[in-house]
Amino acid sequence: MKRKLKHVAALVAILALSGAFSEGCTSPGTFTPGALWPDDRGEHINAHGGGILRHEGVYYWFGENKCDTTSNAQVGVMCYSSRNLTDWKYESVALAVSEDPSSEIVRGCIIERPKVIYNARTGKFVMWFHLELKGQGYQAARAAVAVSDTPAGPYEYLYSVRPNKGFYPENMSPEEIAALATLKAPEAYKSWSEEWRDAVRRGLFMKRDFDGGQMSRDMTLFVDDDGKAYHVFASEGNLTLDIAELSDDYLSHTGRYVRVDPAGHNEAPALFKRNGKYWMITSGCTGWAPNRARLLSADHIFGPWTRHDTPMVGPDSDITFGGQSTYVLKVDGKEDAYIFMADRWRPELPSDGRYIWLPIDFNEQGFPVITWRDSWSLSYFD
Ligand code: GAL
Repeated sequence: MKRKLKHVAALVAILALSGAFSEGCTSPGTFTPGALWPDDRGEHINAHGGGILRHEGVYYWFGENKCDTTSNAQVGVMCYSSRNLTDWKYESVALAVSEDPSSEIVRGCIIERPKVIYNARTGKFVMWFHLELKGQGYQAARAAVAVSDTPAGPYEYLYSVRPNKGFYPENMSPEEIAALATLKAPEAYKSWSEEWRDAVRRGLFMKRDFDGGQMSRDMTLFVDDDGKAYHVFASEGNLTLDIAELSDDYLSHTGRYVRVDPAGHNEAPALFKRNGKYWMITSGCTGWAPNRARLLSADHIFGPWTRHDTPMVGPDSDITFGGQSTYVLKVDGKEDAYIFMADRWRPELPSDGRYIWLPIDFNEQGFPVITWRDSWSLSYFD
């Protein structure tokens, strides 16, 4: 199947370059959301659940390698580079799975939503990703970190963690922390009952995981204007998002974190900042199937965060155009230019997952608005 895909992608690339037709493929300079997106070798880009790093005028796209038969990691984290955001050169496997059965990142583990940030103090590139240990489904719920001296890698795997072990969230008052003692054991509640929801809001699962560290699944990274970096992740069985401060070298958690939209059931966080305001686009939790996106806003990274309805508009906006958020990219050199990035997953043929990149508009109240476009180019922002 891989070869067949390769051939299709190559043909599409040739036809696109020759200007033979413009539908169903991504011609240079044009984004064609949902189409095959050939790299410089004519192969569909394989960087799912990805994120973008910009370094010295070059964009680096990191994402999950997906093969034809399984969503488990068979290769690792891929890296592509580009100067114009539409033409991507294959760089490398930035973080390779290990062949050593005792390694946490042994082939067959789950590696999802890798994101890379640059630490100006240490001169290192730091990659965090969601790690599930081989053979354990999604039970491990760990955050993992790798580091490199160069943007494209290879990255050296450091360790994985359940973050913020032994720390209470900063947005719980001493009274709320004291009230944790009145909660029953999680098994004593009927899942999805009002009583259970209320207990989740009050910290049922945060309390359960206090000693072992908080669960960490879908994730992103965000570096604020002051250089402080934050790890944003679906915690508490995907019921609550945590925003956690990273250490100055970005290699560990400081223990400072807040719980966002507790019991709100958000996944796939993509966080960005515009005119001093923080925005986060998330999804609901329906596995690989698309659902209605959510929008959250805050004046400070640690909140309070307010939840709003989806920023998507038009046909299929209620299912995020068939995609799930992964990243919001600020385009450099353009004023007010932000791109929403999403994945259209294809679990029965994971390698054929597609990318939806769309420009973000802002309405009079400053709210992001995302409209489907069959194709568009960066001149949209001029
Ligand atoms: C999605 C999640 C993906 C992946 C998938 C597995 O909801 O966003 O990253 O974990 O579930 O079913």
